[in-house]
Amino acid sequence: MMNCKMIGTGSYVPDFVLTNEMLEQLVDTNDEWIVKRTGIRERRIAKGMHTWELGLKAAERALEDAGVSVDEIDLIIVSTCTPDTYSPIEASVIQDKLGAKCAAMDVNTCCTGFINASDIADSYIKCGKAKTVLVVSAETLSRITDYTDRGTCVLFGDAAGAAVYTATEEADKGILSSYIAADGSGAEYLYMEALPLEEDPLHSDRTFDHTARFLKMQGAPVVRFTATAVPSAIDEALSRAGLTAADIDWVVPHQANLRILDVIAKKYNLPKEKIYVNLDRFGNTSSASIPLCMDEMRQKGLLHEGQTVVCTGFGGGLTYGAFVVRL
Ligand code: UT7
Repeated sequence: MMNCKMIGTGSYVPDFVLTNEMLEQLVDTNDEWIVKRTGIRERRIAKGMHTWELGLKAAERALEDAGVSVDEIDLIIVSTCTPDTYSPIEASVIQDKLGAKCAAMDVNTCCTGFINASDIADSYIKCGKAKTVLVVSAETLSRITDYTDRGTCVLFGDAAGAAVYTATEEADKGILSSYIAADGSGAEYLYMEALPLEEDPLHSDRTFDHTARFLKMQGAPVVRFTATAVPSAIDEALSRAGLTAADIDWVVPHQANLRILDVIAKKYNLPKEKIYVNLDRFGNTSSASIPLCMDEMRQKGLLHEGQTVVCTGFGGGLTYGAFVVRL
């Protein structure tokens, strides 16, 4: 059986920097509160840019990094909870802009999207349905953020990250295991409306409240959920790979809150230096956060052949998951 190896990464963040000081002008908040509770100092905001534009730039960089031409891609998977349109899907738009002629699909598991998209890529490659898969996680959270709600607007930023996976015969390389899960009983804690409910669509005046689409979150229950869900996902992924915490070189978690990073460090007895963090500079970029980290780590020379990396995500749904990848 073939394995699914990560051979390239790319990312893109918009230029505009939204600092904590700027947020102080919008809502009743302050730099000290934001840094202490979240660890975030600034985030990037896409002004006049589509989600697909961010995704395309990340995709092009990942393909260049991997040395893969568009003709070699068998499948493009885009994870996003902030699509520009329901149809066409983001993956079709990016496929067209790249000039690729391959299958394309979107997945939406909110902030866990990169884990699910990578799991699908792994499955397609392992069963022989695809040789090379491009995963793109692109988000413009600013478009669903209520900049009058201090409980959420300090958290989110816009970004895209991408990874190229390809089939390898090397038995000990690539995605060694993955685990994806969901707990719909907590769905109300992180909520965003898509289509307004209508009593009578035939006779509706269709004057909808556009603010209904804004993301609403009860932060504390989400923190409590992640404190158990994330370690359980990591445990399951490690056990499926036949590994223990002692084998981990890096943990790359979804960048949502500093507290979950502490939970991971304590539970697995890992030095904090092994848990990659960039939320201070980019905030929570939903499904883009993990590939954004991976790409930054590659560029900084922190990732080396043979290392074992655990990626773990969690978010709306509530969804969660993890995969173990050997570089
Ligand atoms: O990506 C998907 C997964 N998402 C997450 O993992 C996010 C999880 N949640 C969190 O990280 C945290 O819940 C937050 C950082 C969002 C909030 O931290 P918290 O410690 O849970 O604060 P809280 O919501 O319990 O609010 C504590 C206080 C409240 O004031 P009172 O009622 O105690 O007077 C809030 O009104 O902090 C207040 N508050 C703020 N104060 C200043 C809430 N937001 C702000 C703010 N600035 N931006």
